Amino acid sequence: MNYPDLNKARIRSEKEVNYIENPMVDSSLFFNKKYFLRTYGCQMNEHDSEQIKGILDHFGMSPCEELESADVIVLNTCAIRENAHDKVFGYLGRIKHLKKERPDVIVAIGGCMSQEESVVEELKKRHPYVNIVFGTHNIHELGTMLLHAVSGYQDIEVYSIEGDVYEHISYKRDSHITAWVNIIYGCDKFCTYCIVPYTRGKERSRHLSEIVSEVEDLRSKGYMEVTLLGQNVNAYGHDLKEDVEFSDLLEAVAKTGIPRIRFVTSHPWNFTDKMIEVIAKYDNIMPYIHLPLQSGSDRILKLMGRKYTKNEYLTLFCKMKERIPNVAITTDIIVGFPGEGESDFENTLDVVEKCKFDGAYTFIFSPREGTPAAKMKDETPLEEKEERLRRLNERINFYSKESNQRLVGQVVSVLVLGESEKDSTKVYGYTDTMKLVNVEAGKDTIGQIIDVLITDAKSFSLDGVLEEGVNN
Ligand code: SAH
Ligand code: SF4
Ligand code: F3S
Repeated sequence: MNYPDLNKARIRSEKEVNYIENPMVDSSLFFNKKYFLRTYGCQMNEHDSEQIKGILDHFGMSPCEELESADVIVLNTCAIRENAHDKVFGYLGRIKHLKKERPDVIVAIGGCMSQEESVVEELKKRHPYVNIVFGTHNIHELGTMLLHAVSGYQDIEVYSIEGDVYEHISYKRDSHITAWVNIIYGCDKFCTYCIVPYTRGKERSRHLSEIVSEVEDLRSKGYMEVTLLGQNVNAYGHDLKEDVEFSDLLEAVAKTGIPRIRFVTSHPWNFTDKMIEVIAKYDNIMPYIHLPLQSGSDRILKLMGRKYTKNEYLTLFCKMKERIPNVAITTDIIVGFPGEGESDFENTLDVVEKCKFDGAYTFIFSPREGTPAAKMKDETPLEEKEERLRRLNERINFYSKESNQRLVGQVVSVLVLGESEKDSTKVYGYTDTMKLVNVEAGKDTIGQIIDVLITDAKSFSLDGVLEEGVNN
């Protein structure tokens, strides 16, 4: 099979540009077609997929679960660690096969991996049948790119420079109960191991009034919970002309009266006292903070460019625990950063022993091309890193289970999201502290906040029964 040359597709003639802006292909060509979408990354990536679904939906397409039944395949990729890359390229093998049998299937690759030049080169070289490559800054162009692809053009368009902040995006949201709301795009922190500032661009905050009206709209549609999204939510507002910061935004969103407000991710570096006060003050701001530690060693934190020390982290942690009643705090930890020795790792374990986190995501350092840490000398063998990860996870799981066990016998409020996956006689939902609970209750509780008596605790979930009817 002859694949078109993607190099040509990169440079557009005036005619082509004109064509892209004023496509002559009718989008009704896609009506009733099926799309298969896979999302690989973080919450922001998931929310981007809701934008992608909005575009495909607008074309009259519907989703399908089987790759083989799809007319359009979209992979929304993640670049955070090596295994994310491997998963996507593994999947492309399957798609290559399919494309040989059905060359008319349109394949689109988007997300953070598309922002990497080496990935685009690899796609061109090894997977030239891919029709569309789009990045994180031009998701809104996907519709036009599909029209372009259906008429035989290939379209590789990835912006390395972020554009404006787009408003009034039509999302097709996965849930009618909880919703993601972007508040700040990009990241300026440049932690030395991390690829995100390169794939998502500079920090750009949305205007407070736009965010508040999105939340008001969601509330009027019956949504019970919003999660404010940013790689670093507490950086919100610093790039705006108005004098607003994250605590002002939180307060404004709390005043909309939406029943539950969450936010991810918080950076320990500029989490102010005022933010803590606002979280403590409003009942509808959930007492749950994801506060990535990354390492407990000052030397490693410095090499990581995290801008805080072990003691500063612990001080902030204690302040949160003191001032926000019943707050749950979870974290992210990287083991095996270049140069991490046993004593550095013991400092990380020490923070875990002191903080007794409600939960944590733990990772082995994965060198990302183009980041400073990828060039740092790393002499620790993988087996040693794996052993550290195992020791760390053992302590993390211990405290996670312990924090769950403390809830047994207590009545907690749970926002019910749906039928339990494992047991259709139960429903599942989350406590205000973000703990997963399976509840013996009817489907009529879905979408409501109910009082639940916790009867049992597992490492990663709780069991409960309905306490005294629905209280909402
Ligand atoms: N913006 C968030 C998290 C973004 S990525 C923050 O600053 O906390 C989610 C997590 O992936 C990070 O917290 C970090 O623990 C992990 N991570 C990022 N880059 C990594 C790398 N190169 N290797 C291993 N883990 C990494
Ligand atoms: Fe990556 Fe650091 Fe930005 Fe988080 S704050 S996205 S870890 S660079
Ligand atoms: Fe992955 Fe990009 Fe999110 S690299 S973690 S999808 S910001």
